[in-house]
Amino acid sequence: MGVFITFEGPEGSGKSTQARLLYERLQALGYPAILTREPGGTRIGEMIRRILVDLRHTEMAPTTETLLFAAARAQLVSELVRPYLNTGGIVLCDRYADSTFAYQGYGLGRDLDELQAITAVATGGLLPDLTFYLDLDVEAGLQRKRTARDRAVEAANPGSTFTTPPEWNRLDARDLAYHQRVVAGFAELMRSDPARWRRFSAEQPVTTLAEQIFHEADLVLRRALRLETHG
Ligand code: TYD
Repeated sequence: MGVFITFEGPEGSGKSTQARLLYERLQALGYPAILTREPGGTRIGEMIRRILVDLRHTEMAPTTETLLFAAARAQLVSELVRPYLNTGGIVLCDRYADSTFAYQGYGLGRDLDELQAITAVATGGLLPDLTFYLDLDVEAGLQRKRTARDRAVEAANPGSTFTTPPEWNRLDARDLAYHQRVVAGFAELMRSDPARWRRFSAEQPVTTLAEQIFHEADLVLRRALRLETHG
C-alpha cells in the first residue's frame, strides 16, 4: 500500500531541495508521487504553520507548540498521506514526526513517552518506510539560512535597511545549544531504528547528494513493487 518517504535534518541542510529533486525524478520516471511538507501541506496545516513560525508569538507555551505541530500532522495524514498511500502512491514529506521528537523532545525537553502518545493520536501510528537524514553542522546550517534570508531581504528591497525576515522564523531564532540538542536527538532516533534511516552528508554538491538519495529510494521502491507483484 504505497511508500512513505520522509526527509529530516537541521535547519539549512537543503532537505526541501532534495525532496523536490527526488519528487521530480520519480515523476519523470512515471511513478505516482506527491510532495508535501510539515508543518503544512494542507490548507488548514498551512494556517497552523503561520501561527507556529510567527516571530511575534514569543509567548507560545511549549505544550501549545507541540499540539499545533500534532494538529497540522493529523490533518495532513488524514487529508493527504493516508488516502494517497491507499491508492498505492508514493508520498514524499519534508519533515514528519521525527522532527517532533528531535525539536520538542530533545530540543525543548518534552517527555518522549508523552510525545509518542500525542504522535500516535495524530498519525494513527503511521510510520515512514524510509527516512533520509541530511547531516550538517548546526552552525553551518544556521549560517546558510541567515545568508538566504539576507539575500531575500536585499532582493525584495534593494539598497534598503528594511528587515522583514522571509526565511527566518521563530523556531530558527532559538539558541545554538537548542539546535545542538536537536541534532543529538536525531542521532539518537537514528540509533534506535537504523533500518528506516539513510544518513548522508549535506555538505556534498546538490547533484551528488540527489543521486545518492535517488539510488536508495529506488531500491526501496523496487522492493515494494516486487512485494506487491508477488503477493
Ligand atoms: P521547515 O519548514 O522544515 O524549516 P527549515 O527549512 O527551516 O528546516 O520546518 C519549520 C520549523 O519547524 C523548523 O525549525 C523545524 C520545526 N519543527 C518542529 O519544531 N517540530 C516539528 O514537529 C516539525 C515538523 C517542525
